[in-house]
Order: sequence, then structure tokens, then C-alpha cells
Amino acid sequence: MSNIVIVGAQWGDEGKGKIVDYLTVEADYIVRYQGGNNAGHTVVIGDDRYILHLIPSGILHKDKICVIGNGVVIDLADLYSEIKGLESQGISVKGRLFISQYAHLIFPYHKALDKIKEERKGLEKIGTTGRGIGPAYVDKIARTGIRVGDVLDRDVFYKKLEDNLKEKNEIMSKIYGLGSFVTKDIFDEYIQIAGELKEYIADVSWILNEAIDQGKSVLFEGAQGTLLDVDHGTYPYVTSSNSTCGGACTGTGVGPTKIEKAMGVVKAYSTRVGEGPLPTEFPPEFGEKIRAKGEEFGATTGRPRRCGWLDAVVTRYAVMINGINALAVTKLDVLDELETIKICTRYECDGKILDRFPNSIDILKRCKPIYEEHPGWKTDTTGLTQYEEFPQELKNYLDRIEELLEANIELVSVGSKRDQTIRISKQCEAKC
Ligand code: GDP
Ligand code: IMO
Ligand code: MG
Repeated sequence: MSNIVIVGAQWGDEGKGKIVDYLTVEADYIVRYQGGNNAGHTVVIGDDRYILHLIPSGILHKDKICVIGNGVVIDLADLYSEIKGLESQGISVKGRLFISQYAHLIFPYHKALDKIKEERKGLEKIGTTGRGIGPAYVDKIARTGIRVGDVLDRDVFYKKLEDNLKEKNEIMSKIYGLGSFVTKDIFDEYIQIAGELKEYIADVSWILNEAIDQGKSVLFEGAQGTLLDVDHGTYPYVTSSNSTCGGACTGTGVGPTKIEKAMGVVKAYSTRVGEGPLPTEFPPEFGEKIRAKGEEFGATTGRPRRCGWLDAVVTRYAVMINGINALAVTKLDVLDELETIKICTRYECDGKILDRFPNSIDILKRCKPIYEEHPGWKTDTTGLTQYEEFPQELKNYLDRIEELLEANIELVSVGSKRDQTIRISKQCEAKC
């Protein structure tokens, strides 16, 4: 297998974890490149369900090496408990997890600021996960952040933490009327956890580039989705990192010429958790029905996800922004019982027809989806194992997605389990 980026083509929760787990068999290294424990990637193996927040989903394959890149923001305590949680489920990360020394750390004051800022915004809130992601990236960009490697030197770490807390405590008390954080308390906690994690900390850009030079393959596991990207998403209703493919390079130190494929994960319908526009959102009653069938509740916060029809304006945009050259379509089984299935192909806005995704929140709010309707396949797809068994209506639906998105579907998913993934080789079918 070559080096592949797996990227969400919508608003996150497309099933990236499941697809990464499936493709891990053919990879040597699996890398997270951005985001933090705002992510929740679910992998179901038999009767066991694993939810990964920071550790790449590839970790469930016992012989694979997993890496957390410099572009990720790390809550050290959460990472440590994720490692312990995996160990309690019989998955050891020893010797096969590497954490970038250049990844920035999330501190308790980031989480407190995330929550109070959201509270103050009231109805204008973003609906963040409250994990401190935004404030941690703010410090990174402001060049005041503290990195994983800093914690390995007690004096350096104490000084950086003290400097940060001087400012943060003033903000906490003077702007928000909240209590202060004590340097020594945070210092002791982080030093203790860093001591436990010391053996995993490394300069991972070298590890990855050397591996690639030796012919090993790397799977880059995106978190969130294209429309949550801080540059290309529905700003300001986005996360604070580059969840698009470009983030795979900056977030790991692997150059673009070393990545051969960008696989976009597309859910067969749309979902969004948190605030912000979702042009194809279902009316409440139908939304409830799909949410229940698709078990659309956040893997990190448990919040109900908003649901809507597949939006080809959005996903076509995702194909362009990421240079997607392969698709994985997930959760088709959730649509199994529907009489008709809609796809939004264009928007109508202020009397004009838009083919292109308008990346302005003010325009987007006024956009109305224009739909085409497809007959449903009304077949239980959860037991299907090959493309040839697909009902014709399902084949037509997939063909239409390929046509609208101008990319080939390589994988389809008809259930949450590992073996409910089907590789499509239509070229072969056509040629044979
Ligand atoms: P991620 O954040 O992109 O990794 O996605 P999540 O794990 O947050 O959400 C996807 C959810 O859908 C998880 O509960 C998966 O187990 C589940 N899932 C993935 N693929 C399928 C599928 O094809 N069908 C069904 N019914 N569930 C799926
Ligand atoms: P995975 O990797 C879905 C959303 C939050 C909120 C916005 C900003 O599982 O697909 P943040 O805490 O990042 O500052 O919140 O982004 N969000 C996600 N939505 N899936 C995710 O990750 C998300 N990570 C963040 O709900 O709207
Ligand atoms: Mg998720």
C-alpha cells in the first residue's frame, strides 16, 4: 500500500476510524496529524467497541506502529488514561506508540477558557467539545504554547508554565471573574504523567520519513472533517486546526510528494454536531428517525448529531480542497428502508443557482438545497459482502455519487463492524 490520507469529507464522524482500521492491515504506520481529544473514532471488532480520541485507530492491530504528530494538541492526562484503557482491553501500546515532542499541550486553563468563552457567547456559541482545543491552538499560534518536549526538562517547563499562568490567571479573574490556577499543582501533575510517557516521546518526523524511505507505508488518520477545517470550513463554526489533507504534511513533517492518495470518507447522508449551518438538515421527526437508526450520538460528548441528506455541493468542495482521488462511502445501511433518497446537487440563494460551495457563513445561511430524488433500494444491506450482490438502486446511487463528486468509490460500508466493509472493483467487473 502507498501512503494515504484518510480525510472526512463532511462535518466529522463520517466513519474515519472504521475505514482506518480496515486499511491498517495494509499499512505499517498510522498517524494522527491534527486535532486532539475532540475526536472520537469508533472501531467495532466483534462484540467489542473501541473509541479512540488521540491514539490512531490502527493501534487495535497489534503489530502496527502508531504516531501522534506535531500538529495534534495533547491533553496529557487524557492520553494517559486512553493508553491505560486500551491496556485494560488487552491492547498494549508499548514500543509501538510515538508521540511528537513538538506537539502542543492542552492545560486545565485551556479547558476552562474553552468552556467560559462558549458560555459567554450564549446563542452565538460554536458548540465546542469543551476539550480546550481552540485555546490550546491559540497559544500555539501566539507562540506562547508549551510542547510535549518541554515537560521533559523540569526547569524549562516550570518557567514556561509560570509565564503562561501569569497571563491566564489575569484573564480568568479580571475578564471572567473565575479563580486562579496554581503553577505547582499543574506542574506536579504533568511532570508525573510525562515521567510515565517519557519512553513514547520522539522526533516523529524522522521516524516517518525514514520509514517511507525504506518503503514502508503510512496511513494518515484525519480527525474532524473538511467543513470543520479552520481555513476551508464553515468558519467560525469550525474546529481550530487544518483537518484537510494539507494538515497531514504540516502536522507530521512528511512532504506532499510522499503522499500518493487522499481518500475522502463520505457518510451516505450528512451529520453535524455543534452549531453552524447544515443546509440539508432533515425536519425534526425524520431527523429523529435517522438519528436513531444511525446511532448518531457524539462519540466524544454523547450529544445528538443533527442529520440531513447527502450534500454533493459540500462533498464536491471537499474533493477539490483535499485533492481526494478515492472515496469510502459509509453508513449506507442506515438508508436501507427508505422509499426515496435525496441528494442535494446545487443551492438556490437570493434567486441565483449555486454549483459551488459558498464559503461564507452569511451566504450559506440563506442557501436552500436543490434536490434530486433516487428510488431507495429497500433491501437489508448489512449482510452484503460484494458489489455484485448490490441491488441495482444502490449501484445507481453509488454511481451518481461518483459522477457528482468526480472520484471513484473504492470502499463502501454497510455496518459498524470490521467485516461490513466492501472493496469495490467495478473496473474489474466492467473489464472481465
Ligand atoms: P469518525 O469520527 O469519523 O471515526 O466516526 P465516529 O466513530 O465518530 O462515528 C461513526 C459511527 O458510525 C460509529 O459509531 C461507527 O461505529 C458507525 N459506523 C461506521 N460505519 C458504519 C456503517 O457503515 N454503518 C453503520 N450503521 N454504522 C457505521
Ligand atoms: P471526529 O474526528 C464531529 C466540532 C464540535 C464543534 C466544533 C468545534 O470524531 O470526526 P472543538 O472542540 O473542536 O473546538 O469544537 O467542531 N467537532 C467535531 N464534530 N466530529 C469531530 O471529530 C469533531 N471534533 C470537533 O462539535 O462544533
Ligand atoms: Mg467521531
